[in-house]
Amino acid sequence: MSASNVLGPGHTALVTGASRGIGPLIAREIARQGGHVVLTGRSAADLKAVMSELAAGGADVSVVPADLTGPGAAEALIDAVEREHGGVDLLVNNAGGDPLREFHTMTIAENLRTLQLNLIAPVALARAVLDGMLDRRRGHIVNISAMAGRVSFPNTEAYAAAKDGIIGFTRVLRNDYHARGVSASVIILGAIRGAGQGQRMLDEANMKTSAFMAPAESVAKAVIKAVRNDRAELIVMPGPGRFLRALMDYFPGLGPAMNRAAGADASVKKIMELQQAKTRAPV
Ligand SMILES: NC(=O)c1ccc[n+]([C@@H]2O[C@H](COP(=O)([O-])OP(=O)(O)OC[C@H]3O[C@@H](n4cnc5c(N)ncnc54)[C@H](OP(=O)(O)O)[C@@H]3O)[C@@H](O)[C@H]2O)c1
Repeated sequence: MSASNVLGPGHTALVTGASRGIGPLIAREIARQGGHVVLTGRSAADLKAVMSELAAGGADVSVVPADLTGPGAAEALIDAVEREHGGVDLLVNNAGGDPLREFHTMTIAENLRTLQLNLIAPVALARAVLDGMLDRRRGHIVNISAMAGRVSFPNTEAYAAAKDGIIGFTRVLRNDYHARGVSASVIILGAIRGAGQGQRMLDEANMKTSAFMAPAESVAKAVIKAVRNDRAELIVMPGPGRFLRALMDYFPGLGPAMNRAAGADASVKKIMELQQAKTRAPV
C-alpha cells in the first residue's frame, strides 16, 4: 500500500508555528483544500487572530496553544488534538527559528533549546502522531528544514545541525512507514521574503530583500505539492535548488562564497550589531 492523499474534506491537519511568519500561509493553503486545520504555537492571542482571518476566508480552523520546548509538550498537544478532532492526518512541523547569535556567546542550554525546537520537538510530534496514522493506515508528516548547514549560514551552528538532522530523520521515516500508508516529506528552505524571521530581521534593520530570497507563499505551495504528489524532498529557493545543494555538498566552500557574494555575511553582521545595541540600550 502506498501513502494516501491526506488533503481535503474529512481530513485533519496540524500546523506548528502557525501564529506568525510562514506558518499562517501554510495553514491557509491547506485549509483551501478543504478539511480541518489545527493551528498551534505559544501565543494564544496571535493564534486566535490567525484563526479569525482564515475563518473569515471560509477556512475550517481551530487553535490549540502549546510551547514545544516544554517536557511532554508534543505528546500533550497530540493527545488534545486527537481528543478534539479524532486524529491527525497531516502534521506540518513548521515551528522553528534561530537566535542568530555567535555560538561561543551562548550557553549550552541556549543551544540545546534551539535543537529542542528545530529537531527534538518535530521528532517527538512525529512519534506521537504515528500510532494513530498507522491504525488508520493514512498520514503524512511534512518537516520544514533549511539550507543553513549547506551554505554555512553565519552563526547558525545548532540550528544548522537541527535542520540537517531533520532531513535524515525524514528520509528514514519515509522509507520505514511508506508501505504502511504513512509518508514523510522535507521542504528545505533558502532565505524567504514576505513573511518570517528573515524578513522580520531585514525590516528591523531597515534593509532590502535580495534576489536570492523566495516568496513565503512558495513554501505553502511546496507543502501542498509534497503531500499531493508524495514528494520526498523539495527545495524552496530561486534558481536550480537541488543542483545548488548537490554542488555545495561537492564543494563545501561554495556556500560561504555565495554568502559573501550575496551580501548575507554583511547583512547578518549588521543585524547582529543592531540586536546587541538593543539589548544594551537602557529601558
Ligand atoms: N524565514 C526564513 O527565511 C526561513 C528560512 C529557512 C527556514 N525557515 C524555517 O521555516 C519555519 C518557519 O519560520 P518563520 O520564518 O516563519 O519563523 P517565525 O516567523 O519566527 O515564526 C516561528 C513560529 O514558531 C513558533 N514557535 C517558536 N518557538 C516556539 C515554541 N517554543 N513552541 C511552539 N511554537 C514556537 C512561533 O510561535 P509563538 O512565538 O507563538 O510560539 C511562530 O509561529 C521554521 O522552521 C524556520 O526554521 C525559515
